[in-house]
Amino acid sequence: MSRKILIYGGTGGIGSAIGRSLQSQGNEVYLVGRKADKQQDLVSLEGVHFIAADVTSAGVFDQVMEEVGPELDGLVYAVGSINLGSLRRLGAEDYSRDFELNAMGAALAVKAALTALKKGGEAASIVFFSSVAALHGFPLHASVSMAKGAVSGLTLALAAELAPRIRVNALAPSLTKTPLSEQLLANPDAAGALAAQHPLKRLGTPEDAARLAVFLLSPQSTWITGQILSVDGGRSSLQTGR
Ligand SMILES: NC(=O)c1ccc[n+]([C@@H]2O[C@H](COP(=O)([O-])OP(=O)(O)OC[C@H]3O[C@@H](n4cnc5c(N)ncnc54)[C@H](OP(=O)(O)O)[C@@H]3O)[C@@H](O)[C@H]2O)c1
Repeated sequence: MSRKILIYGGTGGIGSAIGRSLQSQGNEVYLVGRKADKQQDLVSLEGVHFIAADVTSAGVFDQVMEEVGPELDGLVYAVGSINLGSLRRLGAEDYSRDFELNAMGAALAVKAALTALKKGGEAASIVFFSSVAALHGFPLHASVSMAKGAVSGLTLALAAELAPRIRVNALAPSLTKTPLSEQLLANPDAAGALAAQHPLKRLGTPEDAARLAVFLLSPQSTWITGQILSVDGGRSSLQTGR
């Protein structure tokens, strides 16, 4: 059965992998981003729609829902930032921008989509993106950890508020090879050292996260809500000593 899924950040590394997988299963997919140029091949596929929008502009979420229409089966909020800096360097603008982009955007996206999600199919599902940095302390991560911690809290609160009609879960990835992490991974030696810090000895791929997101969006996961699920090669929970 075809379902209609809206993906904020749908042109990004992880968002586009979710979109491709959903499209290949015959679903209708709405991708939101500022520009479609990175994913022209995906956007031209049957059943894929692109909506150009900046999630930090006023009124944007209601405008998106006007294009999506009155019914929706699933929503993914995969917009985010990795804004690293010391406490000394980070200022109020960094914290506000990261909070707005990662956490407040997620809340406002759901608010605008709520009526449509309630009119959608039986197994309406929302997937947010938290981070390993909200589960494990890393230096220079104050702003992103704070914003992603807010996403984890939002996941629990909305899962409670919207049960039993709508499920809400979040993924918490560790470093995943996407345009977002490109700069961090530009030096092959540094990228290798970062990969080695994971018990499973590699960095994440967009598909690692996308497979779990697609499962959480599907009717196969109808007894799972309020969970923050790590997709992180064991980084948040294991210390292997090698
Ligand atoms: N990659 C990692 O290592 C990693 C680790 C932990 C958590 N995460 C989280 O996983 C999620 C997906 O990340 P990703 O790695 O796939 O990131 P990505 O490749 O950079 O994709 C980000 C997406 O968000 C869109 N976007 C960014 N700013 C926007 C804005 N102001 N308005 C509308 N759209 C905007 C981008 O499109 P445009 O630029 O065209 O707008 C793009 O579609 C994020 O929440 C991220 O924080 C990622």
